[in-house]
Amino acid sequence: MQRRYLDNAATSFPKPPEVLEGVTRYACELGASPGRGAYGEAKEAGLLFDECRGRINELIHGEDPNHVVFTLNASDALNMAIRGVVHGCDSSNTKPHVITTWMEHNSVLRPMNELVSRGDMEQTRVRCDPVTGLVDPDDIRKAIRPNTVLIAVVHGSNVTGTLQPVAEVGAIARERGVALLVDAAQTVGHVPIDVRAMGIDLLAFPGHKGLLGPLGTGALYIRPGVEKRMATSREGGTGSVSDQDTQPTFMPDRFEPGSHNAPGIVGLSQGVKWILDKGVDELWQHQRGLMRLMIERLGDGMPGLRLYGPQGVEDRVGVFSIRIDGFGDPQSLSDVLEKDFGLLTRSGIHCAPLAHKTIGTDQLGGTTRLSFGPFTTEEDVLFISDSLAHLCQGQAARVSSC
Ligand SMILES: Cc1ncc(COP(=O)(O)O)c(C=O)c1O
Repeated sequence: MQRRYLDNAATSFPKPPEVLEGVTRYACELGASPGRGAYGEAKEAGLLFDECRGRINELIHGEDPNHVVFTLNASDALNMAIRGVVHGCDSSNTKPHVITTWMEHNSVLRPMNELVSRGDMEQTRVRCDPVTGLVDPDDIRKAIRPNTVLIAVVHGSNVTGTLQPVAEVGAIARERGVALLVDAAQTVGHVPIDVRAMGIDLLAFPGHKGLLGPLGTGALYIRPGVEKRMATSREGGTGSVSDQDTQPTFMPDRFEPGSHNAPGIVGLSQGVKWILDKGVDELWQHQRGLMRLMIERLGDGMPGLRLYGPQGVEDRVGVFSIRIDGFGDPQSLSDVLEKDFGLLTRSGIHCAPLAHKTIGTDQLGGTTRLSFGPFTTEEDVLFISDSLAHLCQGQAARVSSC
């Protein structure tokens, strides 16, 4: 049976062959640690890093490639951003205040809760629409206080696929002089992002999902100037200004202590090149076409199936959360989809407990999630919908015969 990977929201698969070639070439021919030697291989590895930063900067319309800081994953980038802003601001008179939403991943909720429990900051979590998962930018505006230093919003929900109105939130953040952090874990590489036009100060993202790089890669884009308001969370060797026993202040070294995941970053660079060559607008149109087909098919002949989140393609990405009556525990649906149809999905709470509270699935064990990538095809969508229709009709027949 053909196995179809539908867990691109966790990490993308397959990767373009160029990604693997990049990793292999680095490992077999270079091997040196960038910035840690003046010999040819180390210099070439350093140039490959510059190329990767340049490609990411081009993709997100950043101002300076040196403001693309490599991280371990999106969680690492989000921690760096949240802790950096909270600990970097002057808190001598008032505790900093941070705003976020109920649709966030634990990679935002947990660092924030930790900082609140240590007494380092206050937080407001803005509720989102129980059907669409959308945040109302006006609710964010109303939550701003004189001591608000950061607004953190997820661009695309990893539960409902909801695409938040980030540019509108960005305009509010700019107007009020508050830094905006966007969690682009489910959008970078899939959805066109322009950090300048969208008013984004900090963009956190994994390298291993939409950017098609290997696991263990990620980045934080820091708008030039914002780094001056941020504290470092980690310090260490950078290969630069080695005679100095304090962390360099220049970018990206200020936020990049220690040796890098060089094979991963070289692979990531190839993933980003693949996206730039195809064109993110074209990939997005392809994805929207698949989403449209999926939504049409889910609305047709599927008794007992419920799709959560936006019911059209306008405010969403290709992350679909569903439940089918008769499958109490979402994992039992995932198990049947794998065993009988070769569909690889993910069930549960997806590290976003408040998002499930928002849509009312927290007490039901969550949802079953199917998430698309650039290699998902129309044929996959037709197969998925036929499989789901088969299960729905089977369940409906069982109920009516009882
Ligand atoms: C919305 C969102 N934010 C953050 C993360 C964390 O990403 P990573 O696993 O790269 O740390 C994820 C992962 O699924 C996510 O979906």
